[in-house]
Amino acid sequence: MKVLGILGAHRRDGITEKMLSTVLAGVKAPNQTELIYLEDYPFKPDREGQPNPVLDELEQKMLASDVWVLAAPTYWGGLAGKMKDFFDCMRERLVRIDHLGGTHPDRFKNKHYLSITDCYTGTFENWVTGVTDQSFRTIDKVMTAAGVIKLHELVLTNTFGMQELPESKKQTCLKWGQRLNSVKKRDDSTLKRYIELFFMIAFMALVTMGIQAGFHLLPRHSFWLSYGSFVVIFYVLLASILHFFTVVKHRRR
Ligand SMILES: Cc1cc2nc3c(=O)[nH]c(=O)nc-3n(C[C@H](O)[C@H](O)[C@H](O)COP(=O)(O)O)c2cc1C
Repeated sequence: MKVLGILGAHRRDGITEKMLSTVLAGVKAPNQTELIYLEDYPFKPDREGQPNPVLDELEQKMLASDVWVLAAPTYWGGLAGKMKDFFDCMRERLVRIDHLGGTHPDRFKNKHYLSITDCYTGTFENWVTGVTDQSFRTIDKVMTAAGVIKLHELVLTNTFGMQELPESKKQTCLKWGQRLNSVKKRDDSTLKRYIELFFMIAFMALVTMGIQAGFHLLPRHSFWLSYGSFVVIFYVLLASILHFFTVVKHRRR
């Protein structure tokens, strides 16, 4: 198995690189690692009929690896430009584009990724305001379109003036690097997701019926009031939980 680290940051030797190389240090032989610094690759978007050897090289590296560790700082509340530009230039290679311009997973489907970002913002402020959320969201959006499976995300806050990783973060990065050694080729968590879904629905149905009983919305002779209140309460709970898991919940500490 091969793990490819991709660094999109202004600084080659900054704290983002330290997180990335610590994760890669956790990967052990016979597994292989490679770290590429995007600034070393003067890539441009593809132009029809024109060769693009730089993107070809990057694409080959991505195809040849099973796991990508994508590391980029948070700049201006979003993903660092170099990484974003890389995704933009790679778009037509990352996905298959249909006749209406829609995107579909293609050759990278079922590879895995782990994302890393960091910021000057303090831990508490990031926890409350989610400064780094947008960076993760951008990475997730691109990877989802390409059919690449997320393993985890790592965040580091308070990076102003930081020269070395705090010991606890170093250990977390190493732990995740070690976990990469046992990533399976294919995503086999479909059954797990269906089981989780079952329990989520069972729990929400229980809460919904509890609320109905508590607010006397279960009159014996009014089927439609019971049914209507169930649908509304269940919908609000479902929307909240989906919003939390798909939009809000990112690593902030
Ligand atoms: C252009 C630029 C924009 C930045 N914008 C933010 C920001 O909006 N919020 C924040 O907390 N930190 C911001 N930072 C701080 C970076 O997140 C910080 O430099 C990074 O955590 C350190 O990574 P490095 O050591 O790998 O360069 C910015 C830094 C630069 C250079």
